Amino acid sequence: MFRIVRVFLLLAGGLAVQAADKIVGGPYTINVGPRSATVAWLVQSSEARLGTEPDKLAKVAPVLRVEKVSYTGLEAGKTYYYQAFGQGEEGKGRFQTPPAGPVPFQFVVYGDTRSRHDVHARVAQAIAKAEPDFVLHTGDLVADGTDSAQWPVFFSTERDLLRKTAFFPSLGNHERNSRQYYEFFDVQLPYYSFDWGNAHIAVLNTDLGNLPRSREVRDTYWKEELRWLEEDLARGRGADFVFVIFHHPPFTAVKRRQGGDREVMQVVPLMEKYKVSAVLNGHDHNYQHHLKDGVRYIVTGGGGAPLYDVDAPLAGLTQKLERVEHYVGIQVNGKSAKIQAFAVDGRVIDTIDLKSRAEAR
Ligand SMILES: [Fe+2]
Repeated sequence: MFRIVRVFLLLAGGLAVQAADKIVGGPYTINVGPRSATVAWLVQSSEARLGTEPDKLAKVAPVLRVEKVSYTGLEAGKTYYYQAFGQGEEGKGRFQTPPAGPVPFQFVVYGDTRSRHDVHARVAQAIAKAEPDFVLHTGDLVADGTDSAQWPVFFSTERDLLRKTAFFPSLGNHERNSRQYYEFFDVQLPYYSFDWGNAHIAVLNTDLGNLPRSREVRDTYWKEELRWLEEDLARGRGADFVFVIFHHPPFTAVKRRQGGDREVMQVVPLMEKYKVSAVLNGHDHNYQHHLKDGVRYIVTGGGGAPLYDVDAPLAGLTQKLERVEHYVGIQVNGKSAKIQAFAVDGRVIDTIDLKSRAEAR
């Protein structure tokens, strides 16, 4: 009898846990390549409470897990539609795989979505309307990546965007190098690269500040990342366009942040050596466009975080500055490409015409 009751309680317990499950993020598509992709969604199984008195547990944190499915054997340059979970609209989405050849495409770069969720929502809606083939985030997705309560907010704000495009993230300092970032986006290594048509795109991790506090560990990590970057850029030599994305800008017109991190400045000679078409960063909450030795340096941190003044243009480098919520759209069409910054109301802030690397210099 006791055994039967125990089995019943176990079953009831199991059902109770399942019944409490709710989807609080996604579906979203990550790690998209010409032949593979992963569709993921975030599940909240329960809530945990915390307080400084036994009967006052005011701090509530969702208990999260990511569920995902990976597909292989896909074809390049196709649109795939999915039903990630359930039967209804909420589980539906789509993504495109990168084309193998020089087919025209467009993508969006945006970042610093960590606060002012109403603004973040407007930016995400504007990007969704542009129907990009994929989006790149320059980091600081949330204010504190270790706080599980913040991720459902990020994903619900981005819901309509992420269910119809592929998402490529980069680590900002506000992610705090948290395990959740790696789990939710299925990240093995936070610096990586991919090809899309005739473009090569490299994403770096410049958030060395959240690595273990050992000079030696950080130096070793950065040295290895730079070695990887050089090898990667050498491999991508044949691409008509190369874009490099990372969080901390080497050049900024925000006075109190000028000077550039020693490590980040070490990226600059490689950008020039390998004729990178444009570098796109976040971290400073505004739009900036600088030009140095043929390389465009764009700061796009206008995704929602409080705006910063652009009060100190860089002599001989700065092309355009604006303290504005925005995103950056990039269109690639054969041997030409166009970078445009759009304010959240659709106004064009800046337009940059790019020639292919072979023709540019
Ligand atoms: Fe940042």
